[in-house]
Amino acid sequence: MASTTSHKEQPTVDSPIEQRKAEHLQLCMSDDVAAKESTTGLERYRFRHCALPELDFADIDLRVTFLGWPLAAPLLISSMTGGTPDAGEINRRLARVAQQIGIPMGVGSQRVMLEQPQVRDTFAIRQDAPTIPLLANLGAVQLNYGCGVAECQKIVEMLEANALILHLNPLQEAVQTEGDRNFKGLLPKIAMLCQTLPVPIIVKEVGNGISGEVAQRLIDVGVAAIDVAGAGGTSWAKVEAARAHDQRQRYLGQAFGEWGIPTATCIEQIRARLPQVPLIASGGLQHGTDVAKVLALGANLAGLARPFLQAAHQSENALYERIELILAELKTILFCTGNQSIAHLQQRPCLERC
Ligand SMILES: Cc1cc2nc3c(=O)[nH]c(=O)nc-3n(C[C@H](O)[C@H](O)[C@H](O)COP(=O)(O)O)c2cc1C
Repeated sequence: MASTTSHKEQPTVDSPIEQRKAEHLQLCMSDDVAAKESTTGLERYRFRHCALPELDFADIDLRVTFLGWPLAAPLLISSMTGGTPDAGEINRRLARVAQQIGIPMGVGSQRVMLEQPQVRDTFAIRQDAPTIPLLANLGAVQLNYGCGVAECQKIVEMLEANALILHLNPLQEAVQTEGDRNFKGLLPKIAMLCQTLPVPIIVKEVGNGISGEVAQRLIDVGVAAIDVAGAGGTSWAKVEAARAHDQRQRYLGQAFGEWGIPTATCIEQIRARLPQVPLIASGGLQHGTDVAKVLALGANLAGLARPFLQAAHQSENALYERIELILAELKTILFCTGNQSIAHLQQRPCLERC
């Protein structure tokens, strides 16, 4: 994969949906699609240092269990890609590193593989990741555009997935020239999927956040876990603005480039209403400190997308090193706050508002 491929050279792909995937991947390599003025809200917090941890660093334990899955660390490679040859290579790199470390991985929307069977190989990562949880993915709005239980079952089976993630992306669809904008009546369809599919359903946003109130409505109909995917990181309005061919859509994307609920606020709101619900925090996380803060605020897992894409684009080794460094930071924070495990970090308040 040529890391120097320019945006203009990229689309050697056939259909509009494949073309869109290629453009998304290419644009997300640049930092121009990150929120600039809006933040994750995590900067409002800092850890209280403990000078007497009474711990042996060698005993620090990052292992957690999420939805019954034993994981080596509370980290997730968030849903990103598939559907083009470059995307297939990225997926395989992500899968091999996720397997090596022992953390779960999501793939990008699988709608493309339903419509274009020839791209199925770009999602065929089970052989690279035989034992970790793999998470299937579909836009929830597709439930209003021809996808039903059978299609969801099919994408879960084709990935040999352990769960299905439905993403909610009303802003992205609203500002995208070719967006699917009928979000009416989705909740009963999500409820029906929760009752029918043999795997748990996780609902996420794509970088604009899920409020406490929306999380409550989703959990009430049987959703197993929420991924907040809050504001402060990748901005899909900015991505769509950069892709837009007409002035109007470009303006709309730019106007909403900083829109959304900050990641920290999503966690606070959801934990206030739903103290026990399995919760993933993502959106704008970069470092081990961010990961530690979302866990201390009550999330069970921390997800990163674009930072892992950029590393994986460089090389498999660069991705491994990026994750290893995040986990080293996380261990150091546990040590310097006097917590031996993630559960201890979550039980003993050591985060202060600053
Ligand atoms: C290249 C790329 C493609 C993405 N495609 C999807 C997708 O198909 N489905 C989805 O649920 N989220 C998708 N996302 C959103 C991410 O999963 C994540 O919610 C969002 O980027 C915020 O996380 P970040 O700030 O760490 O990038 C994509 C992100 C990137 C960078």
